Amino acid sequence: PNEPPMVFHLLPFFGSTIIYGMDPPTFFRKNRAKYGDVFTFILLGKKTTVAVGPAGNDFILNGKLKDVNAEEIYTVLTTPVFGRDVVYDCPNAKLMEQKKFMKIALTTEAFRSYVPIISGEVRDYIKRSPAFKGQSGIVDIPKKMAEITIFTASHALQGQAIRKKFDESLAALYHDLDMGFTPVNFILHWAPLPWNQKRDHAQSTVAKVYMDTIKERRANRDDDHELDMMKHLMSSTYKNGTPVPDHEIAHMMIALLMAGQHSSSSTSSWIMLRLAQNPQIVEELYQEQVKALGADLPPLQYEDLAKLPLNQAIIKETLRLHAPIHSIMRAVKSPMPVPGTKYVIPTSHTLLAAPGVSASDPNFFPNPEVWDPHRWEANSPNAPIMHGEEDEEKIDYGYGLVSKGGKSPYLPFGAGRHRCIGEQFANLQLQTITAEIVRAFKLSNVDGGNTIIGTDYASLFSRPLEPANIRWERRN
Ligand code: HEM
Repeated sequence: PNEPPMVFHLLPFFGSTIIYGMDPPTFFRKNRAKYGDVFTFILLGKKTTVAVGPAGNDFILNGKLKDVNAEEIYTVLTTPVFGRDVVYDCPNAKLMEQKKFMKIALTTEAFRSYVPIISGEVRDYIKRSPAFKGQSGIVDIPKKMAEITIFTASHALQGQAIRKKFDESLAALYHDLDMGFTPVNFILHWAPLPWNQKRDHAQSTVAKVYMDTIKERRANRDDDHELDMMKHLMSSTYKNGTPVPDHEIAHMMIALLMAGQHSSSSTSSWIMLRLAQNPQIVEELYQEQVKALGADLPPLQYEDLAKLPLNQAIIKETLRLHAPIHSIMRAVKSPMPVPGTKYVIPTSHTLLAAPGVSASDPNFFPNPEVWDPHRWEANSPNAPIMHGEEDEEKIDYGYGLVSKGGKSPYLPFGAGRHRCIGEQFANLQLQTITAEIVRAFKLSNVDGGNTIIGTDYASLFSRPLEPANIRWERRN
């Protein structure tokens, strides 16, 4: 009684698993039209209740600790990959402290040091990559963006010493770790399958690399000027007085790189694909830099990024249509009445938030399917129709003030207790990469047309289907 409507299905156990898994956004849109903003479907035998729109996002993402729980859902997947005692393998209060350490490390001073590091990595990559030899060519872009993302993130967040190891052993080990991060592992995480054995071996090997590096950095302090996350964690202390143990620092390093890698790499690939679809925007971006920074295009600085509003809007608009996280799940810990409805969600259900639904809803975003970075300018005909996002309520869950996001239709970084702490870093990283690529190349679709490739939903983070080729042409 008083449960939300159930999506019609024929198969027991599997229910709507296949149709959801093939294209979650379409599944959400269709069932919302049929059943309303709150409905339940069967996902691998589990009653899964979706609540969409700003109210649905608020209901789930700002749920109370006694009502909703993230770690119960995620731990089977994340703990073997990250390691013990961090993120979802510890009580939520400890995660809040860990997030606080991470957030505090990301100071303006640190950001100032990251922009030249990221710029340098992108330039070096373009110089040495065989894919960018000559005056023009065709490149399968997701593979390249994955490499650029891991080199830039590891250098900025984990320091020079770790970055060097990505040229050798670490890249392959992270690839093995990645194989633990697939949806089938929600069921098969425990199984002695070849990919799980590789995952376990990679986890202990990578953790040891970090722990050895921590020891070396403690012993010889000639890197004290570096402002990376690892350095910061090495001197962080929990409220109870315990310094963060080395194995936890190592495991947080893995968690950060995995969280940042998949989301930023997918987003940067979509950015390049959208730019290739819209070569005129690439030229606008180039002119924006010339006007704001000078025709000689001096080395990029952190302060420059704020002078490039279109460059910023590229990230914002790409995340509106291509947010890498399409489903956010929580276990239900006590029966939850849904405000404004007669429904009560029982503890046997899982909750699923899908902020991408409101981000592509015409009630908030005119012509939602059109990728239009100019819509983020005040007088654009496609400007978002906001409903009081400006006076958004802020709340502190233990890691600094975050927006509750209760009214916002646009939440690519989530909201509430589990909200992303990497948003500013991701923006800085993606803006710097985009600005450097635009300086180096003109981009277009291989056939000169304006189509866009489809989305691969088969892994946990959605990304472009591959191969995803685009054409590049060197400037000058
Ligand atoms: C959490 C998105 C980049 C670290 C989240 C969540 C979302 C998200 C939606 C909430 C998950 C949930 O509620 O279950 C993104 C996107 C990114 C990005 C779209 C890039 C475009 C990063 C980066 C880092 C990072 C670069 C690290 C430097 C984290 C962490 C959490 C998080 C630590 C907290 C998890 C929790 O509290 O449960 N992110 N993220 N993210 N993200 Fe990100």
